[in-house]
Amino acid sequence: MSEPSTALTRDAGVRYPLICGAMYPCSNPELVAAVSEAGALGVIQPLSFAYVHSGSFSAGLDRVRDLTDKPLGFNAIVEKSVKAYEKRMRTWIEEALDRDVRFFITALGNPAWVCDVVHSVGGKVYHDVTERRWAEKALEANVDGFIAVNNRAGGHAGKLDPAAVLADLGPLNKPVVCAGGIGDEAGFVKALEMGYEGCQLGTRFIATPECAVHDSYRQAIVKADEEDVVLTDKLSGIDVSVLRNPVLDKVGYRAGPIARWLLRGRKTKHWVRTYYTLRSLRSLKRSSTQGLTYRDSYQAGKSVAGVHKVEPAAEIVDRFGRAWLASCESR
Ligand SMILES: Cc1cc2nc3c(=O)[nH]c(=O)nc-3n(C[C@H](O)[C@H](O)[C@H](O)COP(=O)(O)O)c2cc1C
Repeated sequence: MSEPSTALTRDAGVRYPLICGAMYPCSNPELVAAVSEAGALGVIQPLSFAYVHSGSFSAGLDRVRDLTDKPLGFNAIVEKSVKAYEKRMRTWIEEALDRDVRFFITALGNPAWVCDVVHSVGGKVYHDVTERRWAEKALEANVDGFIAVNNRAGGHAGKLDPAAVLADLGPLNKPVVCAGGIGDEAGFVKALEMGYEGCQLGTRFIATPECAVHDSYRQAIVKADEEDVVLTDKLSGIDVSVLRNPVLDKVGYRAGPIARWLLRGRKTKHWVRTYYTLRSLRSLKRSSTQGLTYRDSYQAGKSVAGVHKVEPAAEIVDRFGRAWLASCESR
């Protein structure tokens, strides 16, 4: 009998409908490769490879390909406003395509040019969205599916809960992947039974030996509960989920009045966000590799509630995959 499949497993060429999402600064080649090798989809975060882990994007990509020849994903944050960045992203995508990466997850800007390049070689593009209006725009760009980021996600969280975002996107008739809040296999199976074609997890995979973060980050995730996850706009000018810490408890989680005023201005918004982003790239790299200092925080989502130990990536994939296969059998 043939194994069960979903639109995601077919589009990505993987065994299980499970993605280890891109994570700046936590995506390192060993983690990405371990997830793909185990039958799920490891996603390359090019900035994380180039600036945190491998010295260059190409070296990171080579390292992943030394470890696995299985399908891989690539996270393209399509920010157009910095020309040099867009040029670099185009080069990285070409390199990834040359190394047989065929599944792309776009975020933020207009994914049209990524769709053109990727579709020309038979690949697929799923776009990160938090609600329908962004999904409709992405459909005009010809995307193949959506990564639906909900209000429980690590990184930049959405506003809707998993059921509401699925109901919002369902009528668009494209595969929808659930991103956010899944820490254990019960949550994984439940999301698939709701109608999602797959799940993208981030936080769960930080608590693995393959993820090259400081051990205090892994332990903080294992110890944390849902109430320890709070939103702050101090990192990038928009809300990001982080673990509470004593310094932020003291100084507050919201940007100050001047920054908020600048963030509202049509012209100033862009510059403040760029400033915040550059500052946060440095801060996140520092905390993930050296441990928490008074200036930094750890990003994580509410899925921490389902994470009770540090566990090899392959064991997580295997456990989740078997739970899904069992649920398909019992249906
Ligand atoms: C530390 C961290 C960094 C992240 N960085 C990125 C990123 O660079 N690009 C992106 O598209 N998503 C990013 N995300 C989102 C994840 O890919 C994924 O969608 C999310 O973590 C799912 O929620 P979960 O953490 O509850 O599993 C990040 C998430 C975390 C926890």
